[in-house]
Amino acid sequence: MTFTAKKVDRTLVSREEIREFVTRLGKQISKDYEGEELYLICVLKGSFMFMADLIRELDVPCQIDFMSVSSYAGEKSTGIVKINKDLDRNISGKHVLLIEDIVDTGITLNHLVNLLSTRNPASLKIVTAFDKPERRQVEIDVHYIGMEIPNEFIVGYGLDLDGYYRELPDVVVLSD
Ligand code: IMP
Ligand code: MG
Repeated sequence: MTFTAKKVDRTLVSREEIREFVTRLGKQISKDYEGEELYLICVLKGSFMFMADLIRELDVPCQIDFMSVSSYAGEKSTGIVKINKDLDRNISGKHVLLIEDIVDTGITLNHLVNLLSTRNPASLKIVTAFDKPERRQVEIDVHYIGMEIPNEFIVGYGLDLDGYYRELPDVVVLSD
């Protein structure tokens, strides 16, 4: 596929707003897990930037791992979730925090939570940078939310359109 540049229609979430919610989440999570150790799971690829920022705001010992699942082709959800890369370590007895870029229909996350729960973690919580509650198809308990956004397709801060635009420091809406 060749890259055809789209214009940025507008910035929906600025880098300053992102920094604010990352700081807030870091403080909250550090407080909630005081005295514990955390096992952070970055759900690839969209969460890589958020995880890198969030981990620097944490005040508790933590280890990281990566998991890759796919449920998206272009802008439309297929409803199919496939594991491309599983965790490196056993999470049994660990306090696990799943790091997501965005919760949309909730289908991906629901599948992941069900799968990871069978591995007996001490606890399993979810933190997401962005949440699109209007789009939810599956009830899911998201414990920490950076920012709720309206039903729009966004890119930047790790989020992509067909693999592109992840590098943008602000979260933007593209014009079609
Ligand atoms: P869900 O299973 O519908 O909740 O899918 C969530 C995944 O879809 C996210 O982790 C993203 O990778 C992708 N996604 C959902 N909405 C957007 C968006 O607005 N921009 C980019 N990716 C999105
Ligand atoms: Mg994702």
